[in-house]
Amino acid sequence: MFERLSRQPDDPLLALIGIFKADPRPDKVDLGVGVYRDEAGNSPIFRAVKAAERSIWESQSSKAYVAPEGDQAFLDLLWSMVGGTASPVHAAGVQTPGGSGALRLAADLIRQAGTGKIWLGLPSWPNHAGIFAAAGLEIETYPYFDVSSQTLQIDSMLEALQRAQAGDAVLLHASCHNPTGAPLSAEDWTRITAVITARGLVPLIDSAYQGFGAGFDGDVVGLRAMVAAVPEALVAVSCSKSFGLYRERTGALFATASAEAAAATARSNLVAIARTSYSMPPDHGSAIVKTILGTPELYDDWRSELDSMRERLTALRHSFAAALGERWSNSIAIGRQEGMFSVLPLTPAEVMSLREKHAVYMPTSGRINIAGLKLADVTRVAGLFRAL
Ligand SMILES: Cc1ncc(COP(=O)(O)O)c(C=O)c1O
Repeated sequence: MFERLSRQPDDPLLALIGIFKADPRPDKVDLGVGVYRDEAGNSPIFRAVKAAERSIWESQSSKAYVAPEGDQAFLDLLWSMVGGTASPVHAAGVQTPGGSGALRLAADLIRQAGTGKIWLGLPSWPNHAGIFAAAGLEIETYPYFDVSSQTLQIDSMLEALQRAQAGDAVLLHASCHNPTGAPLSAEDWTRITAVITARGLVPLIDSAYQGFGAGFDGDVVGLRAMVAAVPEALVAVSCSKSFGLYRERTGALFATASAEAAAATARSNLVAIARTSYSMPPDHGSAIVKTILGTPELYDDWRSELDSMRERLTALRHSFAAALGERWSNSIAIGRQEGMFSVLPLTPAEVMSLREKHAVYMPTSGRINIAGLKLADVTRVAGLFRAL
């Protein structure tokens, strides 16, 4: 059987990790992999995570299965964080293996219940298309961002969505858009909501960076407004970045609806899909998140560490944009973008030249992880981009 298979290419971003590791140059810079890094180049474990792990180790008395839907207490606390404590909708959640697991579960549900079609912005996180295609969804695209002018293409986006059919899903990023960092304004969210409502579309909102962009609640303002305004929505949440729990595979999918019965039906389908896919989600990461969100001292400490990460990203963005000067027509926009990523208007040859001559690593798409910079390195690295 295996002989009939053809070898699959490595994921280019994951392959970059290995190439970077093998580079012996001491001043190498990793702008590729999408994890938060501090000024020393580490992806730290939050203090609150360590404390929560200690308390779980002391108190946990069983490793028996939880349930296909996961831990309800975790889901309730997570929805309060994302949807707000005053959310007017019924949110039925299922705990998933990371945000990717939530997106795959959403895709399976869309295939089962919808038109089987999803609209995806260009550009988007490359794994979005991979996950949706693997679930058998048909993918249509809408313009989102023009890399050369560093501008959001909201009018073209709305125009494209006017062609969507009732029941189609529309993928949106809650904040800290990956890869562009370009946020939607409150007015943009309102205009998109109007099209979604008028055409009977279902938003799938991917929230993977809460706390990294416009602030802890600021990052979900658009999400909350849209979810409250539309009859049905899906919200995929990743705890990988906001809690630094990447390898613990922690996340959730929420089906929200104005009618309780609709949300409950969606959830029963999600549970059935989960049961025949991975059966039960991993527990350790969700136990950590539940402990942090439910313990005031840990919550405050986690929020203050998250705030300092956001402040570091903002400072890096401002100094990098200033150091790039007029390198590209709208380089200054990089300072106003949010979260970890921006896409620079580089050719693949320029990306390779930076890698080979200067040990500056990024994927050929030109996406950079701002957190991979050190404040002390910004002037030197920006100088390399300016000299291209
Ligand atoms: C936009 C976006 N959504 C979802 C995810 C999934 O995160 P995870 O599966 O690691 O929780 C990522 C990870 O990079 C992402 O960038």
